[in-house]
Amino acid sequence: MNTALQKSLTYKKYVIDDNLQYFKPHSTKIEKTFADEICSSLSGDSKHIHPKFFYDKKGSALFDKICILPEYYPTRTEIKILKNLKSELSEYLDGSFRLVELGSGSSMKTRLILDIFSKIQNKIEYFPIDISEILTESSELLQKDYPNLHITGIIDTYEGGLEFIEKYDDKKNLIIFLGSSFGNFIPNEGKNFLQKINSTMKKEDLFLIGLDLVKDKKILENAYDDSQGITANFNLNVLSRINDELDADFDLNNFEHCAKYNEKDQRVEMYLKSLVNQSVIISKANISLKLKQGELIHTEHSHKYKISQIKDLMEKTGFEIKQNWLDVNKHYALILVSKK
Ligand code: AVI
Repeated sequence: MNTALQKSLTYKKYVIDDNLQYFKPHSTKIEKTFADEICSSLSGDSKHIHPKFFYDKKGSALFDKICILPEYYPTRTEIKILKNLKSELSEYLDGSFRLVELGSGSSMKTRLILDIFSKIQNKIEYFPIDISEILTESSELLQKDYPNLHITGIIDTYEGGLEFIEKYDDKKNLIIFLGSSFGNFIPNEGKNFLQKINSTMKKEDLFLIGLDLVKDKKILENAYDDSQGITANFNLNVLSRINDELDADFDLNNFEHCAKYNEKDQRVEMYLKSLVNQSVIISKANISLKLKQGELIHTEHSHKYKISQIKDLMEKTGFEIKQNWLDVNKHYALILVSKK
């Protein structure tokens, strides 16, 4: 990439070694955005905290624990499907594809895709996109096991990362968005996001997305309210994060984790319930929050889909389905699409 383009993208480049580099936007407004968003989302009548704020260092570590819980079926089901589709996915790829991952997270699933690339490429190019600097740690771990891997990490929002890739060069991309993270978008945002991905893709690019399917209510509620209380800690941790980063005085003992499946809207809804009448000061967000006993703060929606709805969504956002893969219980789906 030439210097002029690099400048216009306003990213700073960090070269770690021949096979590892990162790009990070020059100016980041992350802390200000956090305070502003918390101020507006907790000031109104229907209080909420955006789920993207779960993932500080501790939250990301708790999420990794959730992924291996007996009740939390999505991760291991997706891994099972990925293991089975190995040879079928490679039929769509060739030596000229690069792997782009939205929200790189735990590298276990990335490894399964990298194994497919290893069979067809001598040098693999991998572009993880993640807002969290945890990206740097997982990249270094991957490098140890894949000496032929060339990593360009983009520490930015998904949208920023996608625009970066679009301008970077003309190489073919397999973009992956795993873990049913798409389910955390509200429907309109999700649709816009798919359209955004579509608009940055070239005709030859491919997009692989993992989506959780509608199933028995009990299975869903157990997955989001596990017996070891890890999901509860994960939910409550967002309050600790606000305490630490925005100088607030949330007492975590005054809140309870709630997870309910809303059948009509096909989503698991997570809340933090206030156990008492209380006031909380969030200094850096300039608010004094009043909560009544029983009042809920919404923290996450996790949407579940029917295959017919996925087909409709892909059709409406400009994609053509190449193939879909499901597990034997039809709990989870991996969908491979291209631009129509
Ligand atoms: C990251 N995301 C797809 C998870 C989900 O299942 O919605 C987050 C999560 N929340 C509670 N458990 C897991």
